[in-house]
Amino acid sequence: MEKYIPVVVIKELSETDKILTALKNSGINCAEITFRTACAAEAIAYACKNYPDMLIGAGTVINAKQCKEALLAGAKFIVSPGLSVAVAKICNKKNIPYYPGCVTPTEIMAALELGITTVKFFPANVYGGLKAMKALAAPFPQIKFIPTGGVDRSNIDEFLAWDKIAAIGGSFFVKEALENAQ
Ligand code: 3PG
Repeated sequence: MEKYIPVVVIKELSETDKILTALKNSGINCAEITFRTACAAEAIAYACKNYPDMLIGAGTVINAKQCKEALLAGAKFIVSPGLSVAVAKICNKKNIPYYPGCVTPTEIMAALELGITTVKFFPANVYGGLKAMKALAAPFPQIKFIPTGGVDRSNIDEFLAWDKIAAIGGSFFVKEALENAQ
């Protein structure tokens, strides 16, 4: 999997090129296009067709309907803010990586029961950041984390230095890439 997962919100389909080109030019070959806007599925389909060398996934997928739409559009991975058993089952069946948001032992145990060993830790800044993830790693040595929420240039390095970090998620990658593009 890619080390950086930019959380992308596409309000209008016409913004897709600007955002994905900026990410690519910043050396980021991945985009989590979120189901927070009406054009999410369309943007995923467009991105998969026009940016075949990028890993395009869907984020903020909170139910089975959105998951099916995302996979139909070509999403290569699915991210949720929390854990959806329905979404996990679809992804398992289709062999698509699913990264659910899990911040408690109970949520991690539910993920493990579904065969998931990499979870999104969201919102990382609110749920105790690195300290909390390190405490959770004691009973769950098999788990890897994708901290997301409140991650930025000021704290990214402390996350990256820990070997249980599978990737880093965040909207700041997009913000930075667009600033660099100016
Ligand atoms: C997400 O859904 O992953 C978050 O909105 C990202 O949080 P951030 O904007 O603080 O990076």
